[in-house]
This record gives sequence, C-alpha cells and structure tokens, in this order.
Amino acid sequence: MGLLTGDALWTLGVAVAIFLLLVDLMHRRQRWAARYPPGPMPLPGLGNLLQIDFQNMTNSFQKVLNVVPVLLRIPGLPGKVFPAQKAFMALLDELLTEHRMTRDPAQPPRDLTDAFLAEVEKAKGNPESSFNDENLRMVVADLFTAGMVTTSATLAWALLLMILHPDVQRRVQQEIDEVIGQVRPPEMGDQACMPFTMAVIHEVQRFGDIVPLGVPHLTTRDIELQGFFIPKGTTLVTNLSSVLKDETVWERPLRFHPGHFLDAQGCFVKREAFMPFSAGRRACLGEPLARMELFLFFTCLLQRFTFSVPAGQPRPSDHGVFGAMVTPPPYQLCAVPR
Ligand code: HEM
Repeated sequence: MGLLTGDALWTLGVAVAIFLLLVDLMHRRQRWAARYPPGPMPLPGLGNLLQIDFQNMTNSFQKVLNVVPVLLRIPGLPGKVFPAQKAFMALLDELLTEHRMTRDPAQPPRDLTDAFLAEVEKAKGNPESSFNDENLRMVVADLFTAGMVTTSATLAWALLLMILHPDVQRRVQQEIDEVIGQVRPPEMGDQACMPFTMAVIHEVQRFGDIVPLGVPHLTTRDIELQGFFIPKGTTLVTNLSSVLKDETVWERPLRFHPGHFLDAQGCFVKREAFMPFSAGRRACLGEPLARMELFLFFTCLLQRFTFSVPAGQPRPSDHGVFGAMVTPPPYQLCAVPR
C-alpha cells in the first residue's frame, strides 16, 4: 500500500474535515432549527442545509456524500451506500447487453440504444468522441429516471385530485363520453375537442408542482442578469414553484382550480406562467412524450373507472411530500369500473 503524500493528502485532510463538520452540523440541526426562525440564514451555505427537509430525504450518509462527493471515490462505497441505484444500473446493463447481442447493423435501428451503439462503433479509436459505452449507460439511465417517476407522480396527483374533487371527475367523464365514447381508446387528436380535460391535466401539473426547483445548472461564464452579477461556475437553481404558484398570476394559486386554464366560454387557454417543464433551451426534453402519456393514461383511466375515497376512510390530504420531487402523500383509492 502506498503512502498518501502532497496534494492527495491535503485533499483527503480537507475532505475528512468537511465530513466531520457536516456530521457535527447535522447533530446540531435540531437545536439551530429551534433557535433561528424559518427564512433566509445569514450564511447562505448553512441556510441551504437547514432549509432542506432531511426527514424526507435519503439516509444520513447519502446526504453527506451529496455535499462531499469526493468521498464517492472510495472503492466499493457507492454501491454500498446506494444499493437501489446499483440494482438499477445492473438492470440497465442487462438491457444494453441484450441490445448488443440482438442488434442487426443491416437493419434500421430499433430504438435510441441501437442508434447510439451504431455511433459508438463509428467513433471507435476516437477518444474525443462522446459516443462511448459509459455515455450510453448514462443517457439511458437519465431517460429512464427523468421519464418514469415524473409521469407516474403526476398521474398519482391526478387521481388524488379526482377523488378529492368528484365534481371535476364527473365533468371530465362527461367530456370523454361525448367526444370519445366508451368503445374506442382515446387518441391525441381528441385533445382539441376536450377543453375541460385539458384544463384539468394542466391544473394537476400546476398544483402538483412536482419539480419545484427544476434541475440545477452551472454557469459556464460570468454573466449579468437583471443587474445581478453571477460568476462563472455558480450553481443556479430555478424556482419553478414561484411561477406555478404566483399569486399575481393565478386567481387561486394554492387551490386546485381547473378554471385557471379556461376562458369565459369554456375554451382551453394556454397560460404563460405554466412552466412545470421549465423554460429555455434546457427545458424538459421529454415534454412532448410526457404530455402524450398524461393525456392518454388519464383519459383511458377515467373512461374505464370512477375513482373515490374508500368507504369509511378520511379525506386524504393534498399537501405534497417533498423528497427528490414533490409527490402526493400516500393515499388509497377505490376504482369502480364504469
Ligand atoms: C410530467 C412529466 C415531466 C415533468 C414535470 C418534467 C420536468 C422537467 C424539468 C423541470 C426539467 C428541468 C429543466 C431545466 O433544467 O431547466 C426536466 C429535464 C429533463 N427531462 Fe423532464 N419532465 C417530465 C417528463 C419527462 C420525460 C417523460 C422524459 C423523457 C423520457 C424527460 C426527460 C428529461 C431530460 C432528459 C431532462 C434534461 C434536459 C436537459 O438538461 O437538457 N422528462 N424535466
């Protein structure tokens, strides 16, 4: 075993010091939380740490790694601390191996993985290319994680809001019966004739506000924005919630109110402040797919079932649970075929 010297020793020393400081910080958190009122803290770093709801986040060591990611270089540690992620990547690796074995380069690509594999082959011997096996793993992992939980959390919000607002559910079902009927499945073209359903889906997304802080981005150069100087290398967090719940824009920002997306004639209206997918060039890449999934799944479900709070159970709360995203609180529902 070699001895650590110079830079490596210094880095390790700093990492250990930060680690100890953070462990200490977490132990003191309760006392501090009681001493300081909620709101911005004098030291932004500490303030951010204390604003996070640790109760609903991952376990303590994962939190420490989130702040001191250099510790992830300790061999074997990532798999131990993140068993679910390890299992997820193992599953993806199986899928990718199967693709490699069954891909026929003479045929058109079956999907993104096939197309990426073809590019990896072309880029062989070019270390500059971003088409390599590790990037393929990451792209596929990104698409799975970004695409699965978001749509399912939104649908979970939609069903919760339907059992809490049976009058809204009835109106959606009425529109489904008039436009689609009970025989054929819904199609994307139906959207144009279903203003109320469209308004409900948009309002579910606005109210659910599942990614309230978007995805962090890093500035690649110094920039001045509305008089604020932001140096290169700053992590920026967009507060989408402040727009989706802006009281100067929405009549009832904290209530579920499909009327936010309807005009006086009952026609669907787009609203500029509707940005659950964020905005700009790095806005959600999956938005068109997500919109299709939400419309087709939601209408399909309400075409076939009526949802309600199970008999004898209290009305579930509509206060979101903040974790990696905002999900509805756990609830049960009764699905009765129509
Ligand atoms: C209701 C569903 C969804 C919501 C609310 C949502 C929301 C978001 C938000 C807020 C961002 C951050 C944008 C930013 O950085 O400013 C994002 C990024 C992204 N989303 Fe979605 N998303 C949804 C569904 C999906 C689906 C179905 C996919 C793909 C299958 C997807 C793939 C991605 C990807 C790849 C990014 C990163 C884009 C980039 O950095 O350039 N999302 N999404």
